[in-house]
Amino acid sequence: MTSTVVVGGFFGDEGKGKIISYLAIKDNPSVIVRGGAGPNAGHTIRDGDRVYKVRMLPSGFLNKNAKVMIGPGVVVNPDILLKEIQDFDASGRSFVDKHCGIIEEKHLASDSKGELKEKIGSTGSGTGPANADRAMRVLKMAKDEESLGSLIVDVPAEVNSAISLNQNVLIEGTQGTFLSLWHGTYPFVTSKDVTASGICADVGLGPKNVDEVIVVFKSYVTRVGTGPLANELSLEEAQNKGWSEFGTVTGRQRRAADFDFELARRAIMLNSATQISITKLDVLYPECAGKTSFDEISEDAKLFIKNIEEKLKTPVTIIGTGPAINDVIDRR
Ligand code: IMP
Ligand code: MG
Repeated sequence: MTSTVVVGGFFGDEGKGKIISYLAIKDNPSVIVRGGAGPNAGHTIRDGDRVYKVRMLPSGFLNKNAKVMIGPGVVVNPDILLKEIQDFDASGRSFVDKHCGIIEEKHLASDSKGELKEKIGSTGSGTGPANADRAMRVLKMAKDEESLGSLIVDVPAEVNSAISLNQNVLIEGTQGTFLSLWHGTYPFVTSKDVTASGICADVGLGPKNVDEVIVVFKSYVTRVGTGPLANELSLEEAQNKGWSEFGTVTGRQRRAADFDFELARRAIMLNSATQISITKLDVLYPECAGKTSFDEISEDAKLFIKNIEEKLKTPVTIIGTGPAINDVIDRR
C-alpha cells in the first residue's frame, strides 16, 4: 500500500486532473486529498460523455468509495466547492479541514484588477489576496464558515491514519513546479509553494510518509498568463502543431513551447520525483490515440518516451494517450 503525491512539472495544465482521476479509480485509495493554492486551479476530467471541470473538489472524486478532502493549506471558495459537491454528486464523502482559508468577496474584488491581474495575469479567483490575508493572520478559517460546518474533519489525522492502516492514499497537487512562489519564475507565479514538499505540507503529510512522487509533464509546455516561457512559439505555430489550448478557469489561450528538458530536469530535482507521467502523447503522435499498451505505440513515440527516461534518469510510468480516463498506458 502506498502514498502517492502527484504534482505538475511545468506551469500547470499538464493534465494532472486526468492522471489523478485514473489513479483514483485504478489504485482505489481510501483517501484522496488536495493540496495547492485554491480555486485558481482548474482540472478537466472526461468520463464517457461527461466532461467535468473542477476547481475545488479533488480530481479523484469519481471514485465513490474514496473520501475526498481538501488540506488545511488550501484556500476555499465555499460557493464553488458546495456547487461542485452538488453537481458532481459528491456529498457525504467530501470534506475540508477546519484550517482551510476562506475566500471572500473582497479577495475576488482585489484579484480582478490592478497589479495582480495586469502584471501577473492572475486567475482572478481571489486565491492570492486570500493567501496574503492569511500571511497577515486575518483570513477567515473554514471553522468559522457556517456553510462548511458539516464538511469539517481533521484532514491531517485522516490522511495519516489511512497510511498507518496500510491503505492507499493519493495526494493531489495543483498548478505546476514553475508557478511555485519559491521555485518558479517570480514574480510571475502563484501565491504558494506548489512543489511536492509544499503539497505535502498543505495536507499535513510529513516527508517520511511519502512513497511515490509522480511528476506530470505534458508532451509540450504551455503557460497561461504572463512570465517567461523559453522558446515560445507564436500562436500560429502552436495552432499548426495542434497545441492551441484554452484555460479551464480563465478561458485564456495558453502559450506553448516544445518539451523543455532543462525545466523537466529541475522539476525532477525539486520534487524528488520517483516516476514521470507524460500526457497528451496523442497530440504529438496522433497514431497513439487511445492506445493502452506501450507495445502498440509507434517507434517515434517510443523514442520520445525513451529519450525522456534516459535524459531525466527517471521512469516514465503513466502515459496519457487521449482525454478519457482510461486512455492511459500504465507501465508500473
Ligand atoms: P494566481 O494563482 O491566480 O494568483 O495567478 C498567478 C499566475 O499563476 C498566473 O499566471 C496564472 O495564470 C497562473 N496560474 C495559477 N493557477 C494556475 C493553474 O492551475 N494552471 C495554470 N496557471 C495557473
Ligand atoms: Mg488547469
